[in-house]
Amino acid sequence: MINTIIEQLAEHGWCVMADFIDAHHVRQLAIEGEHLHQSGRLTQAGIGQGQGKTLQPGLRGDSILWLDDSPDNPAQQHFLQQMETLRLAANRELQLGLFELECHFARYPVGAGYAKHLDVFQQDSRRTLSTICYLNENWQPEHGGQLRIELEDGSQLHVLPKGGTLVCFLSHRFPHEVLPATRPRLSITGWFKRR
Ligand code: OGA
Ligand code: MN
Repeated sequence: MINTIIEQLAEHGWCVMADFIDAHHVRQLAIEGEHLHQSGRLTQAGIGQGQGKTLQPGLRGDSILWLDDSPDNPAQQHFLQQMETLRLAANRELQLGLFELECHFARYPVGAGYAKHLDVFQQDSRRTLSTICYLNENWQPEHGGQLRIELEDGSQLHVLPKGGTLVCFLSHRFPHEVLPATRPRLSITGWFKRR
């Protein structure tokens, strides 16, 4: 599975991998994310960085909580181990020089999205590989919430946020947006950064 991700990244700069996380761990992570939401630990996400950061819920509607580097939670530990395997393989096979992962739970309420953007900040280009792992069980096309990625040949990729699916892409190459959904939409979104 990791080999396939690496091959796809080398060939296209992006990859969509179903069942990157198994159903058991997806469920545990989803329970954790929903619990964090219920207990008020997620906060409205902003746009931009540092002094320039603003809250614009009409453009970006999710609420987030950053993960610890060394979580107590076994499902988060499992997730981070999988991501570490990916990081090492990407560095070994693609010489990406990925140094660290920053990632957060993200929960979009019904009707919320994230307008078209790039994941690299204007003043800070360390984000190199974007990763989104979805935590939504039984997600159907009619629920909406697709990630829409603009590919370099002008075509579009629409990814349904199905539990266990990992999407990853080179952060500076692909504008993308999150379409609104008819049910809450949960993920762990992250970025592997260079130094
Ligand atoms: C982001 C983002 C995509 C998704 O958080 O920057 O683009 O599918 N998320 O949740
Ligand atoms: Mn993004």
